[in-house]
Parts: sequence; C-alpha cells; structure tokens
Amino acid sequence: DTNAKKFPESFLWGGATAANQLEGGFHDGNKGMNIADVLPGGKERLTILQSPGFDFQIDESKYSYPNHEAIDFYHRYKEDIALFAEMGFKAYRMSIAWTRIFPNGDELEPNEEGLAFYDRVFDELHKYGIEPVVTISHYEMPVNLVKEYGGWRDRKVVTFFERYVNAIFTRYKNKVKYWMTFNEINSGLIMPIMGLGFAIHKEEDRFQGTFQAYHHQFVASSIAVKACHELIPDAKIGCMILFAPVYSYDSNPENVMYALQEENVFNYFCADVQVRGEYPTFIKRYFKEHNINLDIREGDLELIKKHTVDYIGFSYYMSRTEKKDKGTQENIQGNIMSGVKNPFLKASDWGWEIDPIGLRISLNKLYGRYQVPLFVVENGLGAYDKVEEDGSINDDYRIDYIREHIHAMGEAVEDGVELMGYTSWGCIDLVSASTGEFEKRYGFIYVDKHDDGSGTLERKKKKSFYWYKDVIASNGEKL
Ligand code: BG6
Repeated sequence: DTNAKKFPESFLWGGATAANQLEGGFHDGNKGMNIADVLPGGKERLTILQSPGFDFQIDESKYSYPNHEAIDFYHRYKEDIALFAEMGFKAYRMSIAWTRIFPNGDELEPNEEGLAFYDRVFDELHKYGIEPVVTISHYEMPVNLVKEYGGWRDRKVVTFFERYVNAIFTRYKNKVKYWMTFNEINSGLIMPIMGLGFAIHKEEDRFQGTFQAYHHQFVASSIAVKACHELIPDAKIGCMILFAPVYSYDSNPENVMYALQEENVFNYFCADVQVRGEYPTFIKRYFKEHNINLDIREGDLELIKKHTVDYIGFSYYMSRTEKKDKGTQENIQGNIMSGVKNPFLKASDWGWEIDPIGLRISLNKLYGRYQVPLFVVENGLGAYDKVEEDGSINDDYRIDYIREHIHAMGEAVEDGVELMGYTSWGCIDLVSASTGEFEKRYGFIYVDKHDDGSGTLERKKKKSFYWYKDVIASNGEKL
C-alpha cells in the first residue's frame, strides 16, 4: 500500500473509450461516414489525412481501415459492459458517434436507429449501476461537414451541432448525467483536422481559419452547456482538454518564458474560454501579432460568458519539456505535440515520456487556476502485450504505470484538489487514434485482433484486470 489517502466515496472509477475506436459497425444502423472512417491504418494515417488532395474517400485498394470493424463493440457491447461491471466500474466514459445520430451532419431529423443503439448501451450500463460519461464529439465529425463546409470554419456547423446536442439531450435526459463537449479541444491548435475538421493547406488557415473555427466551437460549446442545463438540470457538463504540463528545459529565463507561453496558448487558451467565459488577455496579444480578426457576432461573447462548463475533464499521458532554441537537442514525439527529451524521464514504447508526478502538477495547476472540479478522463500506457501459452497476459508495466498515476492523484487530492473521478484510456483494447494500430494496447481487457486484420475478437482478462478490480473495490487504497 503506497497510498494512504482517501478518495471521496463518490469517486468515479472506470475506463474510457471513443465510438470510432471501438464500435465498428461503420455502416450499421444507417450510420454516416465520419473522419475516422476514412483514416487508414498505420503510423502515416494522420499525414495522409492532412495531405493536400486527400479526398476523404475510402480506398481499400491502397489502405486498410482498422476503425471499420474495430473491436465490434457495436455487436458485443453486452459482453464488454459485463466485463467492465466485473471490474467494478462506477463510470464508463464513451462517446456518441455524431454520424449515428445525424449521418451527414446537416439533416433536420435525427436517425432513430442510431438513437436506439445508445439507448441500449446506456440501459446496459445502468443495469450494473455504471454511470455513462459521454463525450459529444470525439474526433468523429461527419465527413460531409468536412467536405461541404470546410469543418468548423463555417458558422453553419454551429447550427448542425445545436441540432445534434438537442437531439441527444432530449433523448437521453434520464440516462446520462455527465457530459463533455469536444474531446481534447486544444489539440486542433497543432492538428486541426481531427477536431476542427480541416487541414492547413493555406497560410491563412494556420491562424485566421483555426481561431475562427475555435470561436465557432466555443459558441457551440456554450449552446450545449445552456441546453444541457435547461433540459437536464441535474446533469454536469464539462470541457475536455489535452493537458501536458510544459517544463522549461533549464532555469534560463528565456526558456522558462517560452515554456510559459506554450502552456498559455496550448494548455490554457481553450479552458480559459470554456471555464471562465472570456478570451484570455494573452491571446489578444497573440491575435494581434498573427493578424487574426475574428468574426464575432452579436451576443456571442455574452453567451460564452454566461454558459461556462461545470468541470474540466482532461487527458494526461505525459509532460512536455521545452527549450526556445532547440538547436541539436534530441526531440521527442508524444501525444500530438513534440518537445525536447527530458533527461529525468523514461519513455513508453511509442516514445511518450512517463511522468506520474506530472499528473499531480497538472491537477494542482488546473485547480489553482480554475477552482472547478477536475476529472481525469484519459490516462494509460500504450504497450505491446504478449499472450502466454497458458493464455495469461502479464502486463505488470501497465499496472506500474497506472499505480503510480493513481498514487499521484491521491497526493493531489491531499493537496486539496477537487477530483471527480478517473477513467483510464482504452480500458478494453481498441484502435489507436494517432497510429491506427491494434498492437498499441491500453486495455485491462485484451482483444484478439491484430494489425494484419486477423484475430477472433475474443476478449481475455489481463493481469491488470484483476489488479484494477481491487483498486476500485478498495476505493484507491489498495494499489
Ligand atoms: C487521446 C485521444 O489523444 O489519446 C484518444 O483522446 C487516443 O482518442 C488517446 O486514443 C491515445 O492516443 P493513441 O494515439 O495512442 O491512441
């Protein structure tokens, strides 16, 4: 027992997934095509998606598409939810695929088959007393909105999104009490295609287009918060950011300042708007320096001010170390962003630097700045797993990673941080978002599915399954 602190009794222990990475059934139930459906498998997938001339079509003669079948949760959700229940999950973070509800994004009426599917999933969760925590948009924008409207740059998308949130809040008001708007909303600052629905091919999109798209998302987020509070008064709705604390490489004030600026723009800008309801002052200077002139309509700023989120959900995998002049310094690649190598940290098989203390730092930074409840909605270790001859999977490296991060959360709770819960990423193996692989596994549950497309889809419990079950049963005391 390395952790004597108490998590609150109501602490939401569980796991997290996203529709496009596990459901499969990509044509079932009249679902439309979303960005993830045109994402080829493999490490080049995001480069391909962003390349000029990419037409957002499926081309099976050239690529494989692991998200199409994924792990077939669409047909196996009962079996999977039973396994989550066996681990004692209190919460399950999942997303609704926008394209199951509005296949092209711009229809007037929702698709009943899609709505009915999530009814079945929510009912199954409630059967076991598991709270659904639902991300409304997790890198799953309808392809039609990308092609016809250029993604979130077009204000019309706000109206389509409003229709979507009204449909799901109305339908699920008695079943879902925890919501989040846009997954890792700030990731679009580095790679707009997944969240904002366009790639940067013209210089004007790098700044003007990106921030105009953000303005539309902020308006949409406030519309969602308002609708959620009106339609489901006992629900909580949060934002969701990708958080990696930025460390200065050394004590050179130039580098410290650089790290602070990176952190302001990447880590705090979106949350400042969504939590405090205002564009932060530092971004106004940034807008001026990059000739950004936002089209802000009458009433937008009042709406944003009035309808702020109730909590901050965030993903935490790693910290990031920065140096103003990188020179020949060794670089690392991580969760979307890059940085310089931190000499004090080890990295995962995919080069993501492992830093449990960074989670305590993140929780303290976020709580210190915002004083709203926090929710760690993603954290985990992508690793290769080996199935032994006797069928066991001894993923001690994953147990170590999660143990240390839970310990760091316990420390943060002792520091006074108000923490709602912890849903580790990819609680069941699924398709990796950045590299489109099955072999980059995060789960407590192994899925027999491989990068060459083979596999029976059989589910197996890893060693971490039993370990996490004890963690939950002891409310985080037994690590
Ligand atoms: C986050 C995303 O960036 O990290 C998830 O919200 C993603 O969708 C997760 O799967 C892990 O990243 P990856 O690339 O290892 O799947």
